[in-house]
Amino acid sequence: MALLIRGGEIVTADSRYRADIWIEDETITRIGPDLPAAPGAEVVDATGKYVFPGFIDPHVHIHLPFMGTFAKDSHETGSIAALVGGTTTYIEMCCPSRADDLLASYELWKSKAEGKSACDYSFHMAVPKFDESTEGELREIVKDGISSFKVFLAYKNFFGVGDEELYRTLQLARELGVITTAHCENAELVARLQQAVLARGITGPEGHEPSRPESVEAEGTHRFVTFLENTGATGYVVHLSCAPALAAAVAGKSRGVPVFVEVVIPHLLLDRSYAERPDFEGAKYVMSPPLRDARNLPVLWNALAHGMIDTVATDHCPFDLAQKDMGRGDFTKIPNGMPAIEERVKLLWTYGVRRGRLDIHRFVDAASTRAAKLFGLFPKKGTVAVGTDADLVIWDPGWRGRISVASQSTNNDYNPFEGFAVEGRPQVVTVRGKVQVRDGVFVGERGRGRLLRREPIWF
Ligand code: URP
Ligand code: ZN
Ligand code: ZN
Repeated sequence: MALLIRGGEIVTADSRYRADIWIEDETITRIGPDLPAAPGAEVVDATGKYVFPGFIDPHVHIHLPFMGTFAKDSHETGSIAALVGGTTTYIEMCCPSRADDLLASYELWKSKAEGKSACDYSFHMAVPKFDESTEGELREIVKDGISSFKVFLAYKNFFGVGDEELYRTLQLARELGVITTAHCENAELVARLQQAVLARGITGPEGHEPSRPESVEAEGTHRFVTFLENTGATGYVVHLSCAPALAAAVAGKSRGVPVFVEVVIPHLLLDRSYAERPDFEGAKYVMSPPLRDARNLPVLWNALAHGMIDTVATDHCPFDLAQKDMGRGDFTKIPNGMPAIEERVKLLWTYGVRRGRLDIHRFVDAASTRAAKLFGLFPKKGTVAVGTDADLVIWDPGWRGRISVASQSTNNDYNPFEGFAVEGRPQVVTVRGKVQVRDGVFVGERGRGRLLRREPIWF
């Protein structure tokens, strides 16, 4: 069925104008003033609203076996949470451990999403080791349309790679035109410092940050950038959390190293004091890299505003309170991660655009367009233009509310942003021309989501 979006103000990463949008099947076919509605077409009135391209979250965990348990969302729940928050595409980390078979894991991750996700999706393929069979397996996965890798410099003996494996992964990535995303913390130092902090008698969640200090992330970031520089590969630092790590990435950028930087919404809005809350409440806020000293937050916002940080993602990774409890008495066993897929865009709008920290076009760029360009989705995704997928977010800037666990779609029993004010929200969300959210509520087709196969890019 055709769809007409009437009277909205279209805002992309580089333009802003009032026009109607005509959608046939899955694609935008006309944009212009006063477009007529053909008989039988569905009409959505967007008067007084912004029309943004569907937002893209380039870093989520849905199926994730990790730290002796599993992240809580399925693609059914996670994709609905994404959509009501305005995210129409996410890229999930496909994360086998060192003990797992790469191809079998890739098939498993695909099977978890197929026919289940209500929004479009793709994967970054994690490389937890590099042995005789890895190269051939990765070539197959790239041929299947997965043009990004993930490496963990953290999580020793589980997801983490050593320097030789990192080098070989990046060499292959360069040859194949694959961008490599990286969690940058020094695994050895984390393991040693965790023991040192426990030995001081600090066993609660407040021990998490001191066991992974800023210097440990700065070292990982610097090492990753150095490996990129010496292999010619293109890289993307995920969830960069602090000023020293940013300095390492920006130094690389200024030397011409093709390295891009992601910040996640928890690191922009929450500081380490949340993880220091008494009575084990801090466990809700344990993630890695950890929430940092508050002095880092304005540094991250400024870097984002000026484009030194490229994208805003979530690292969505919910664990419920019972799972967090696995680490009572030993913070190293608290499952690392928190949810944010539903809140990312609303919070970035409210605390970025509304508070004057972020220009509206940089907002669209950081939450959609830039990820589309970096990960081979542009221009089908990430903008509003004739010929693009009709993934649209009709945004009500007048809406007011608060984040609450009571109204969330994410499958979890707490919300790390509980009580945060929100000033604007997605009113209507379409995925390839189909209305999936109306009046902020999921009304769409479960399982509509499609695996997005992506071509390599040589930057
Ligand atoms: O704490 C986090 N970030 N959990 C998810 C796994 C990862 O490191 O991205
Ligand atoms: Zn990570
Ligand atoms: Zn992650």
